[in-house]
Amino acid sequence: SQSGGGGRSGALSPGPIVAGEVQRIDVNPPKGTRDFPPEEMRLRNWLFNNFKEVSRLYGFEEVDFPVLENEALFTRKAGEEIKDQLYCFEDRGNRRVALRPELTPSLARLVIQKGKSVPLPLKWFTVGQCWRYERMTRGRRREHYQWNMDIIGVPGVMAEAELISSIVTLFKRIGIKESDVGFKVSSRKVLQEVLKCYSIPESLFGKVCVIIDKIEKIPVDEVKKELMAAGVSQEAVEELLQVLSVKSLTGLEEKLGSSGKAIADLKQLFSLAEKFGYSEWIQFDASVVRGLAYYTGIVFEGFDREGKLRAICGGGRYDHLFSTFGADDIPACGFGFGDAVVVELLREKGLLPDLSLQMDYIVCALDEDLQGAAAMVAHVLRKKGQSVDLVLESKPLKWVFKRAARNNAQRLVLVGSSEWQRGVVGVKILATGEQYEVKLDELI
Ligand code: HAM
Repeated sequence: SQSGGGGRSGALSPGPIVAGEVQRIDVNPPKGTRDFPPEEMRLRNWLFNNFKEVSRLYGFEEVDFPVLENEALFTRKAGEEIKDQLYCFEDRGNRRVALRPELTPSLARLVIQKGKSVPLPLKWFTVGQCWRYERMTRGRRREHYQWNMDIIGVPGVMAEAELISSIVTLFKRIGIKESDVGFKVSSRKVLQEVLKCYSIPESLFGKVCVIIDKIEKIPVDEVKKELMAAGVSQEAVEELLQVLSVKSLTGLEEKLGSSGKAIADLKQLFSLAEKFGYSEWIQFDASVVRGLAYYTGIVFEGFDREGKLRAICGGGRYDHLFSTFGADDIPACGFGFGDAVVVELLREKGLLPDLSLQMDYIVCALDEDLQGAAAMVAHVLRKKGQSVDLVLESKPLKWVFKRAARNNAQRLVLVGSSEWQRGVVGVKILATGEQYEVKLDELI
C-alpha cells in the first residue's frame, strides 16, 4: 500500500484512507492495557521468574485457570468495588461470562472440583492476568498480572506466617529492603468482636468490612452513613472507628481484652515472625481491613514506606469462601502480588535490573552461496545450547558489527569460502577483538 510514513515508528495520525477501503488502525492498545515489547518482556520475565523461584523454594505447585470465567463466580453481593469493575458480557451462546478480576474464586472453584481427590493441605501458586475496569492511577491499570500463593486446609496462623515469609524472600531477592517496604497486619476478627458486642448479625460482616475499607478513599461521614444504612447502630459505628485507629497490639488488648481470638492470632503471628526472621518488616495496624468481602481472619498488605504508591500486595485468611460457592468450608489463606506497583517501586529506588539483550553468537556468511554453510554452523552451536543470531540476508560487514553490538553478541563467526574449504570458520571475540579459527565440530 502507499499509506506513507514508512509504517515503522511514531504515533499514527488518523491516516489517509487508501483506495477508499483500508483505514490505518490506532496503534495504541486499549486504554489501561499494555504491550510488552522486548525490553518490557525481559523485565516481566525476570519478575515472574523470581515469583516462580520463590514459590518453588516454599514447596508450592503451580496451577492456572482460564482468564474467561462464568460471571457468577464473581458476583458477590457485599458491595465490593471489584464487582462494579467487572469486564463482563454475553458470549455467542448467551452465557454470561467475565474476564477474571482476581484469581481466588477460580482457585476455589478448582479446589471444589477436585474434591477429595487432592490431599490437604494444598500449596498452590499461579501467575496470571486479571482485568478490572479501574480508574487509572499510578500502578493501577485495567489489566495486571498477579502472583498468588494460597494454602488450602491449614487453619492455624503458621500458614499466614509462611506466606508473609515468602513475600519477604521475594523482596530480598529483587533488592528491596525492610527500609523500603513493610507489611501492615490486622485481623478481621477485631471488627467481628466489636460487632458481636453490639449484636450485629454475622451476615452483615462482609458488607461492613467492605464499607470500612473505603475509609481512606471517601469522607468518614460517608462511611458512617453507609454503615448505618447497612444496619449498624451509631454507637457501634463510633466504636468501630475508634478501634480502627489503634496502632499497637497492647492498645488493642486494652480495648478488646486479652481473651479473644483476634489478639491470640495476632500475637502468635508476631511471635512466629521473630522465628522466621522478618519482625522488622511487619507492624500491627487495625485500619487494614482489605476491600474483598471473603476475608475472615488475619489480613495484611505490603506498602512502601515513603507512602507514594498504592498497596504492593495484599492477602489474608478466607475460611468461609467455599461455602459461598455451595461447598463445605475449608480453611484457606493466600495473597495477591501485582506486577505494576512493585516495578514502580524498583524504578523509584533505582533497583531495576540491567536486562539488556544477550546473545552468545552472531553468525554470518561472507558470500551468498555460503548461507547454507552458515546455517550449519548455527545449527551446531544451537545444539550445544548457544544462542545464535544467524544473519539471514547478504549484508555488509559494517551492518553485521552494528547488529552484533546491538545484540551484545559475545562472538562473531564469519563463514568465508577459503576457510570453509579447509573445514574451519573464523571466530572473533567481540569484547577483546581476539580472532581464531576453529573446526566446525570443535565449536562451542
Ligand atoms: P487485591 O488486594 O484485590 O487482592 O489485589 C492484590 C494485588 O493485586 C494488589 O495489592 C496489587 O498489587 C494488585 N492489583 C490489584 N488491582 C490492580 C490493578 N488494577 N492494577 C495493578 N495492580 C493491581 C486480591 O485480588 C486477592 N484475590 C488476593 C488473594 C489471593 N487473597 C487470597 N488469595
